Amino acid sequence: MTTVRLPGLIDAHVHLREPGYTHKEDFYTGTAAALAGGVTAVLDMPNTIPPTDTPARFAEKAALAAAKAVCDVGLFVGATTDQLDAYLPIAQRACGLKIYVSETFGSLRIEDLGLLHRFFRTWGEKAAEIASDTTHSPLRTPHSALGPVAVHAEELMLPVCLNLSHLYGVPLHVVHVTRRSEIELIRRAKEQGYPVTCEVTPHHLFLSSDDAARLGARGDMRPKLASPDDVAAMWENLAIVDIFATDHAPHTLAEKAQATPPPGVPGVETMLPLLLTAVHDGRLELDDILRRCVENPRRIYGLPAQPDTFVDVDVDARYELSDAGQLTKAGWTPFAGQSVYGKVEKVTLRGRTVYDGHRILAEPGSGQLLFQSV
Ligand code: NCD
Ligand code: ZN
Repeated sequence: MTTVRLPGLIDAHVHLREPGYTHKEDFYTGTAAALAGGVTAVLDMPNTIPPTDTPARFAEKAALAAAKAVCDVGLFVGATTDQLDAYLPIAQRACGLKIYVSETFGSLRIEDLGLLHRFFRTWGEKAAEIASDTTHSPLRTPHSALGPVAVHAEELMLPVCLNLSHLYGVPLHVVHVTRRSEIELIRRAKEQGYPVTCEVTPHHLFLSSDDAARLGARGDMRPKLASPDDVAAMWENLAIVDIFATDHAPHTLAEKAQATPPPGVPGVETMLPLLLTAVHDGRLELDDILRRCVENPRRIYGLPAQPDTFVDVDVDARYELSDAGQLTKAGWTPFAGQSVYGKVEKVTLRGRTVYDGHRILAEPGSGQLLFQSV
């Protein structure tokens, strides 16, 4: 047994489903699952019902998170077609602006160039306005007044978003990159000084299209599992992958059994053991994990430090991931049956033990909402 103490991980891409889809997950169950996975802060996506696209809807979601969360939570606002720019007055309270440009779960997809152009322009204008306002101290550290525009942009939509970001000088974060062509394009954009960062999910690092038939709907998500060559490209280009984030997207097994199952898989509990297994196998260094699950998410989104917050993990403990072992309300994992190393023994958040390796000890509402103090 070798217990290693890590800082609390940040999962910069989760769907905690509240409001509107609480049969799949809610702020309590989703953040409890996060703690069990050694994650002490999550950034929640806006594709709920209603979507997080106006100040009132943001306030409603923030109140739900504040009442129920057991780890810290940041909330994205989302670009939608019927509430154009309505989120701008509370842009500073969001961790970023999410735009769904490619096929996804929910109704937030936007492919119209005029709209995309507008969303980048107005986000950039808002950031400039806040940066020039000297009457209150900036909320974020240190490089940007607002969080990035985070895009789900596959294939031809990726260069569109790279260019809009470049033209308006708005930081772009490309979520769940999967293809060789995409990661190589992002590499080139970084070399050219574009303000771009990117993330890759554990399922796109550890599963491929070769697993799709075996997994069926349990292996169906957007972007879909990619070819073994695409997966190899993620590993070859690890140096330009800024963040590992799970895209924790819980759907129930009953929904996954439907004729047209919703895309998405849970992941917030399994990321750390999967990554630690890669360390055990010599494919990653521990430092590779900390850079992408703590330091870079904190820098890219301007997140505050979490004092006295850490995760004790037995990196030698070997066990099999199982549906029964998951705290997510969805109650399953696409990695069921897989043998992993790395058991979370204890999670401490701001000096209090919030998870003891078996049970959640934190009270609902003890997690903090990020960016709310303006
Ligand atoms: C996500 C979901 O279920 O909300 N699904 C998915 O397959 N990734 C949506 C998304 O992240 O695009
Ligand atoms: Zn997502």
